[in-house]
Amino acid sequence: MLDKVADKAFHNDVVAGLSLPQKAIPPKYFYDERGSQLFDRICDLPEYYPTRTETSLLSRIAPELPDRLSDVAHLIEYGSGASRKTRIVLDALPQLKSYVPMDISEEFLLGVADALSANYPQIDVVPLVGDFTAELSLPSAVRNGTKAGFFPGSTIGNLGPEGGREFLARTRRQLGSEAKFVLGADLVKDEKVMRAAYNDRAGVTAQFNLNILSRINRELGADFDECSFHHLAIWNAEQSRIEMHLVSEKAQSVTVNGQCFAFADGETIHTENSYKFTQATLRALAESAGWRTEEIWIDEEYPFAVVLLAAA
Ligand code: TRP
Repeated sequence: MLDKVADKAFHNDVVAGLSLPQKAIPPKYFYDERGSQLFDRICDLPEYYPTRTETSLLSRIAPELPDRLSDVAHLIEYGSGASRKTRIVLDALPQLKSYVPMDISEEFLLGVADALSANYPQIDVVPLVGDFTAELSLPSAVRNGTKAGFFPGSTIGNLGPEGGREFLARTRRQLGSEAKFVLGADLVKDEKVMRAAYNDRAGVTAQFNLNILSRINRELGADFDECSFHHLAIWNAEQSRIEMHLVSEKAQSVTVNGQCFAFADGETIHTENSYKFTQATLRALAESAGWRTEEIWIDEEYPFAVVLLAAA
């Protein structure tokens, strides 16, 4: 076992993460096929306001996009998932030559790309399997022509301030000096509303969080007892972020491919952060990474921002 390069990286990341004083697992490992499906269900939960808020905001601004993005030939989406919001952008930009959905979950990505090709026969859909937090080269189909990045879902908030800046600087280099970028990011709001979004009553977020343990068991030969961990999501006001953890319900030890990790009763594995921005922190982040803010559109009811950036 563990003969594939991807499995080795997964193994090394998990072992390194579980060896930290505050145990942690990188959130990109949430998205195996089941994780991608669970995440898709999170997007439809009544408590999870970001997806529907951003979707209606994108629909509202769609009439402005043709003018704003008139030169764009290629749209590249980072972490495309089900590509549901993308359809609003594709519908608004009939001149697009190609769409590159990038996602870490291969099975999920290829299924979505097939469906999109069937619905948008005039656009070349070029799926790219990969990790957008790493250096990746774009397919040759998009080498010539103006490019726009699309990064909705407040995924930028999952990268942390430093990771977010690096991501935006890297995509700025990758997309070129004529590039545009459409970025969706969640804004700080009433704490109860934010907390509820990550603590849904149906328990789908808990299943999503715990699924990472089943994946580690299955793919890395580990023996996590999922029933003795539970989901925890808290608001960290000082850091302006929701934190997701898995809490050990007792003192126990877990073996990952022969290596043993001890958990105290109540000890947590930190699985994800979701930073929440203000208009000012968002603008500063983009501008520190070589972008200029052309426009910020806001949903006022559930404060959420869609930002149009241009290469500075
Ligand atoms: N980008 C999403 C967010 O920060 C990701 C997300 C939503 C998420 N719900 C989650 C990640 C639950 C982990 C667990 O809102």
